[in-house]
Order: sequence, then structure tokens, then C-alpha cells
Amino acid sequence: MSLGRKKGNALCRLMIFNILICVLVVVSWKRGNNKGNPKRIRIPSQRFWRRQIMSKSFWNKEQQRLDMINNPLINSELSGDSLIGLPDWLHDTGPLDPCEADYRVPRQILDYNTLPTRFQDFLLHMHCRMYPMLINQPHVCDEKPFLLLVVKSLIYNFDRRQAIRQTWGQAGFLANRTVTTVFLLGNASSMDNFPDLQEMLDHEAKLHKDLLQWDYRDTFFNLTLKEVLFLEWFSTYCPQAQYVLKGDDDVFVNTLRVIDFLEGLSEGKAKDLFMGDVISNAGPQRDKKLKYFVPETVFLGQYPPYAGGGGYLFSGDLAKRLYNISQKVVLYPIDDVYTGMCLEKLGLVPEKHKGFRTFDIEKKYRDNPCIHRGLMLVHSRTPQEMLKIWPWIVHPELDCQ
Ligand SMILES: *[C@@H]1O[C@H](CO)[C@@H](O)[C@H](O)[C@H]1NC(C)=O
Ligand SMILES: *[C@@H]1O[C@H](CO)[C@@H](O)[C@H](O)[C@H]1NC(C)=O
Ligand SMILES: *[C@@H]1O[C@H](CO)[C@@H](O)[C@H](O)[C@H]1NC(C)=O
Ligand SMILES: *[C@@H]1O[C@H](CO)[C@@H](O)[C@H](O)[C@H]1NC(C)=O
Repeated sequence: MSLGRKKGNALCRLMIFNILICVLVVVSWKRGNNKGNPKRIRIPSQRFWRRQIMSKSFWNKEQQRLDMINNPLINSELSGDSLIGLPDWLHDTGPLDPCEADYRVPRQILDYNTLPTRFQDFLLHMHCRMYPMLINQPHVCDEKPFLLLVVKSLIYNFDRRQAIRQTWGQAGFLANRTVTTVFLLGNASSMDNFPDLQEMLDHEAKLHKDLLQWDYRDTFFNLTLKEVLFLEWFSTYCPQAQYVLKGDDDVFVNTLRVIDFLEGLSEGKAKDLFMGDVISNAGPQRDKKLKYFVPETVFLGQYPPYAGGGGYLFSGDLAKRLYNISQKVVLYPIDDVYTGMCLEKLGLVPEKHKGFRTFDIEKKYRDNPCIHRGLMLVHSRTPQEMLKIWPWIVHPELDCQ
């Protein structure tokens, strides 16, 4: 076909299209002028979004409140002196200081008195995210890390931290890349009957310069606090790190495999990277005896896809966005679910990778060096097992073809 004919065809189509639009405009104008037509467009003179139904569950209700406050449409109305049209429950905020115990809680949660103590503690303090740092390493990221290894630990796990330093968490150069390791710690409260190990910890911090500690009670339900305090720390002291691997102190990480994987990423994929052992279609456990039990009075709904908290890998860029968005998500007592909620709010879905084995590998493979070379992360391993496995990873003679 010649170019001229092609052009002619296109012109012809354009003209027909124009005529059609003309007809449509004329018809709609005529209709609009027809005074008796009940279908005229009416511009609302008042609030036109749907009135939100208040959830009966405490967490959902607090999240609705936060969503409302962060909604730019409603925000302008909130800042003015008129709060007309907003539901009453929006006014019923907690204490002015978010770090004071919130005594609305026992009033608002009908079965509060029958809940396990860890829930009562969580609910009373869930709005506080400001805890002073007891130990910091402000210069630990001065040599821009390619990979920051972040390990959730507890004060008394000295041996686990040491095993990690001697194996997969060796700071310095690895595969020609800068790797930096930090351990995240809270405070061991005498309330929980822990012996005072703070002096030993201070000594360890001086020796290795890799501990970060905040002054809050280090409990299972405060792991979410550990997560957001870390994200805040990262945004302040380590924003230039390229990638972050965050895990427990009883996982084994094949750092070489992780670096190799990261080097192969395309730029587009690297920015939004969030990868791990992803759990989809999960929801809260309603059996009181289970570790992950959450009552209906606290949370209703399904969980978004989330990566098991044993260990996941993400980009430094995303870590900063997670910190920002976390301020718009109410703390949830299960830390990895909480991170999934933040990702969902960012419009991202965590990616599942077979190399993350937070539920371990089959027993028959646990002594197989070559299987371990293919893994990214496996849970759980004792300090002694870590020292046994690491040579399998770095040994140059081992032939795994
Ligand atoms: C190590 O990294 C540096 C800087 O990234 C690079 O210039 C050098 O070529 C690398 N060396 C090897 C052996 O890959
Ligand atoms: C940490 O917890 C201990 C025990 O409850 C307490 O005495 C101490 O004041 C807390 N804070 C610091 C900075 O150690
Ligand atoms: C979390 O830490 C804060 C500060 O130490 C404490 O008040 C609260 O009870 C803790 N929450 C849980 C669930 O342990
Ligand atoms: C985080 O929020 C602050 C303030 O709203 C903004 O300046 C910054 O660019 C945000 N950072 C990221 C990574 O989104």
C-alpha cells in the first residue's frame, strides 16, 4: 500500500470521528437545555463521599481514623474550625501524648479483661513509637553498604550474634561488595524477670560496634515496634544502603548467593524489590491457645500477602518508602503481617522466592552442602550449625555441578 493512500485513509477516519463528536455534543446540549429533564447533573452542595461505617474492631477503627486524618479531601475540612459531617468516633482520640497509656481501650474493647496480658499491654501502648536509643552506631553505614544485614536479636542471645559475626554476617568485603551487619535490641525489663545483662551488652557494643538498642520492653508483640524503629533509624543513619536483608538471629543466610542474586537484578526490578517466603490468603488465628491468636474485638479481615518474618530481602529505596507509609498504618501486634499491610498501602506485592526457607528444608537435605549453596535463607539453625554450614558456602574446592 502506498503512503499516500494510508494517509488518505487516516484522514477519512478522523473526519468521521469528528462528525460523530459534533452530533453527540449537539444532542447532549439539546437535552441539557430541555428544562423539564429530570436527569440534569446536580453539583452536590455538601460532602459527597460515602459516610464510613465505624468498624466494631479496635484496630480497624483506629486505622479508619488514621485514614480519615490522612485523606487530603477531608483533611482541609479537619484543619478548619468546622468538623460538621464527620462521624463522632473520629473525635474520640486517645490521650494527647501518644506515649501515655490509652485508657479508652478497656472501655472500647468489650472482652478486654479476658484477653491475654500481652494483648492488654499492646493495646494500651500501641500509639507510642518514640523510644530513646540506648546504643547507636551512627557511622556504621559510612562506607555505603551494598547489603545491610539486619538481625532481630534479644539481649541474652550473645552466642547467636557471635556465630553470625563469624559466619554469614561477617562485616566488610564479601564477593567484592561492602556488607554491614547490625543487631536490633530492646531493653530487658526486670518486670519480665530477666537478669540485668546491660553491662555485658555495653561491652559487646564497644567491641563490635554493631548493636542498636532502644529503651522499650523487648517482647513478641513489640517486634512491630522494632520494625518501625529500625525503618526510622535506616532513613536517618543508613539511607544510602542499596539493599537490606532483615531476619531473625536463628536463621542461616547464604550471603554469597544473596549478593549474586542482587547483582543480577535489573534496575527496574531492584527499586521495588521485596522478596521472601510469601504467605498469601492468611487471616488472624481465632484459637486462644495459639501464638498468633488475635481476637475479633481487635481485628477483623484477611491479611494481605506478607513475607514470613524469619527473613526477607528488600531495597534501601523501598525501606525509606516503608518508613514513610508506616506512619499511616496503625501498629499491628504481628510484625511481618504489619509490614505486609504497609506494602499493600504502597500498592506493592511481596514476591515469593523458593530460596527463602523459613519452614526449613527436608530433613534428608540438612547435611547436604550443595543444597545449601542454592538457598538464600533457612530457618532455624543453632550457632553451632551455622559454623558447620558456612564453610560449605565459601569453600572453593567443593564441586556442586
Ligand atoms: C570490585 O569492585 C570494584 C568497584 O565496584 C570494581 O571496580 C572492581 O572491578 C571489582 N573487582 C572484581 C574482581 O570484580
Ligand atoms: C531498661 O530496663 C531496666 C529494667 O527494667 C530499667 O531499670 C532501665 O531503666 C531500663 N532502661 C535503661 C536505660 O537501662
Ligand atoms: C512494649 O514496650 C513498651 C515500652 O517499654 C511497653 O510499655 C509495652 O508494655 C510493651 N508492649 C508489649 C506488648 O510488651
Ligand atoms: C517521605 O516523606 C517525606 C515528607 O513527607 C518526603 O519529603 C520524602 O520524600 C518521603 N520519602 C520517600 C522515600 O518517599
